[in-house]
Amino acid sequence: MKILLIGSGAREHALARSLAEAGADLVIAPGNPGTAALGENRDVVATDPVAVAALADEVGAELVVVGPEAPLVAGVADAVRAAGTPVFGPDAAAAHLEGSKAFAKEIMAAAQVPTALAHVCDTLAEVEAAIDAFGAPYVIKDDGLAAGKGVVVTSDRAEALAHAEACLAKAGGTVVVEEFLDGPEVSLFCLSDGRTVVPLAPAQDFKRIGEGDTGLNTGGMGAYSPLDWAPAGLVDEVVERVAQPTIDELARRGTPFVGLLYCGLALTSRGLRVIEFNARFGDPETQVVLARLRTPLDEVLLAAATGRLEDVSLVWDEGVAVTVVVAAPGYPESPSLGGVLTGVDVHAEKDGAAPVDSLPGVWVLHAGTARGDSGELVSSGGRVLSVVGTGATLAEARVATYQGVDRIRLDGARIRRDIALAAERGEVTVPE
Ligand code: AMP
Ligand code: GLY
Repeated sequence: MKILLIGSGAREHALARSLAEAGADLVIAPGNPGTAALGENRDVVATDPVAVAALADEVGAELVVVGPEAPLVAGVADAVRAAGTPVFGPDAAAAHLEGSKAFAKEIMAAAQVPTALAHVCDTLAEVEAAIDAFGAPYVIKDDGLAAGKGVVVTSDRAEALAHAEACLAKAGGTVVVEEFLDGPEVSLFCLSDGRTVVPLAPAQDFKRIGEGDTGLNTGGMGAYSPLDWAPAGLVDEVVERVAQPTIDELARRGTPFVGLLYCGLALTSRGLRVIEFNARFGDPETQVVLARLRTPLDEVLLAAATGRLEDVSLVWDEGVAVTVVVAAPGYPESPSLGGVLTGVDVHAEKDGAAPVDSLPGVWVLHAGTARGDSGELVSSGGRVLSVVGTGATLAEARVATYQGVDRIRLDGARIRRDIALAAERGEVTVPE
């Protein structure tokens, strides 16, 4: 199957890896040095609907898969679908679920999906009233897309207000103030063909830059799957109470959601709550979820894109997958780029040590990387690489992953050493 995959991060490298394994013939646009080994990379402005539809036509794509949110919100899926090509990814109207937190709250209210209480605020006075009503810790969210960095959770009232002020200062700036949700977070990806929902395996993401979940929010610093501590029946409960009602509500409004509904959840003392929806695969959770999926991914995504999910059942590997992100020095505030990377693959070898890919059950997915003049790898983005390791147990998968991480050299890299550590120690608990 000829597939055009849009995007250039580690999530897209993971998608490309699974699609190539299934035998797909891939064009990745724009892609990265990692995806170049799995298909043909092509330049495109990923947020330009006309350009993406033209590229799909030019390469003869039988399916277009859109990785990131920005092209979806810009209407790339609408344009490709209008041209008659199946596309995995929602139209702009349905992607609004991620594009606006206020819209997501409206859908959840209409569909009776459990979520945090929230106030949508347009002025600082409204924000002050809302945070004083909820009390600390304060949760302040930029209403629009912010690459996972628009949220501040803090007990410092001045910091909360400063973030709200910065969000409100943007053109059309709106702030969502929420009640604080206690309890562990879970990401559950649900495939949707507009009607039928098929859940993937749950994963946990580590959003903060610092060990022990401290410091600023990032795009995500690591993940693991499955979650041995999650309550039995969690996946069924999320489909029944969250994903299916949301998909049904969007269909009822005439904007069916075709693609991946990412349910970001908190398991709180008062039960399951939605923290956020995204309209696409999560990064870095995709790296671990797809590592365990044994059903050919091209067939699964095409079935979703063509209204045939009813016939799909998924097969999973029994083991565990962990991923750790190698980020640039200074990430997330001000990543410094252009650092030389070694240890990633044979081409990049300088120090004579074996590259990561020679370790069994370990691989590297590229995100912010580029090739220098002599073919060497250099960093070109905030999140540079995702190292994925697999094993029969979480402990084995963690050892494998960090062995891989330790073979990579990038001066000043930011790496969390505690990804999945609390779970390995049996310290993740769901509040009663
Ligand atoms: P979001 O962009 O909405 O996913 O938020 C990013 C991160 O901020 C989440 O993964 C949580 O760790 C944290 N967060 C967001 N909303 C809340 C909330 N209501 N209570 C506690 N933490 C939250
Ligand atoms: N890992 C969080 C996200 O993809 O938004």
